[in-house]
Amino acid sequence: MQLTSRADRTATVSPVNVRPRSDRTVLVTGGAGYIGSHTAVALLEQGFEVIIVDDLSNSSARAVEVVGHLTGRNVTFIEGDLTDSTVVASVFASHPIDAVIHFAGLKAVGESVEQPLRYYRTNLLSTMNLLEAMQSNGVFDLVFSSSATVYGDPDTVPIPESAPLRTTNPYGATKLMIEDICRDVAASDPRWNISLLRYFNPVGAHPSGQLGEDPNGIPNNLVPFVMQVAVGRRDEVAVFGDDYDTPDGTGVRDYIHVVDLALGHIAALDRRGGRCEAYNLGTGNGSSVLEIIAAASAASGVEIPYRLADRRPGDIATSLADPTRANTELGWRADRALDVMLTDAWRWQSGNPNGFASDTAS
Ligand code: NAD
Ligand code: WQD
Repeated sequence: MQLTSRADRTATVSPVNVRPRSDRTVLVTGGAGYIGSHTAVALLEQGFEVIIVDDLSNSSARAVEVVGHLTGRNVTFIEGDLTDSTVVASVFASHPIDAVIHFAGLKAVGESVEQPLRYYRTNLLSTMNLLEAMQSNGVFDLVFSSSATVYGDPDTVPIPESAPLRTTNPYGATKLMIEDICRDVAASDPRWNISLLRYFNPVGAHPSGQLGEDPNGIPNNLVPFVMQVAVGRRDEVAVFGDDYDTPDGTGVRDYIHVVDLALGHIAALDRRGGRCEAYNLGTGNGSSVLEIIAAASAASGVEIPYRLADRRPGDIATSLADPTRANTELGWRADRALDVMLTDAWRWQSGNPNGFASDTAS
């Protein structure tokens, strides 16, 4: 790939937003992971240049290869750990970066309770290194992967961005702290343009069936677990509680297709005008655990066995986004329906029963 210097490319064009996408290079941290890889596909399809940095601690280099195959585009991949400031500095020194989408980090709530220092270290240090490198290289456009976890157990649903922020676990605390850091950094210099995207429950896979979620070990999240039961890797789904104050007693969540989520990042990249703004990325529609199992059975054609189990500590009854702000300010809307989410998840899972290590037993 032919690269020109950042100074050469920015000197002739103003304002930033009129620059063609083919002239904009986006650094995607964690781009080998589930959401990052789908976002890399969307970026490449829309003409952006993409550089992925990932340490492959929770992903496979195969995902980056698939991103290239699906798009027919060149992807620059750097295997590196963002907690190492020299790695981050060298990425910026050797590539002309215009904007950053920061997915990299650890994301398992239960694990964060057991290993809080690892979570604080990885998530906070990576972000600090990134923000410092961005500032010193004059890169001020950032899209950050936040989470609905910053709302804790909400007072009301659907949840607007103005709801109180609180959390009950170290993972969520890292998201809240990073949001605070971003707000402070943006307040210090008007050139910053930071979008904090609060994802609800991302599910589904690329419609090709070649890219999808590939969790290590036993999945924590419902949809990957259900899919592994459907494909025969696990015996049955444990439904964590049927005595919640919800229509069927099981937990209700706002599931969003990962491709819709990916497109939300591109909408955020195009945003101008606010220094640091938060957006809910969700559909505004809720589905219960039993509805997910039924929809997954319909999508797969497999009757998925389940048993009722105790509540999982820390779970809440209902989480639902109010996505109005993203709809109006970003011009973005999640419109892929639940059956599409589960059909796409099933195409990925059935075609790749063991994920990217398709011929490795787990
Ligand atoms: P993922 O684990 O698939 O992707 C994260 C990627 O970051 C992985 O490829 C991992 O190898 C990489 N990584 C981790 N530590 C790194 C480091 N120190 N240096 C470089 N790379 C590193 O997770 P995902 O589901 O794609 O989530 C992406 C982001 O979205 C995360 O920040 C997560 O907290 C956030 N998020 C995810 C969900 C969800 O349900 N999946 C919901 C809300 C927010
Ligand atoms: C969904 C529903 C469970 C598994 C988590 C994080 C959150 C965010 C997204 C990163 C709940 C029930 C689950 C199972 C079940 N991640 N369930 N049996 O808990 O809404 O959110 O992932 O930011 O921070 O907390 O998602 O998919 O784990 O659970 O009954 O085997 O499914 O109780 O009601 P959750 P989930």
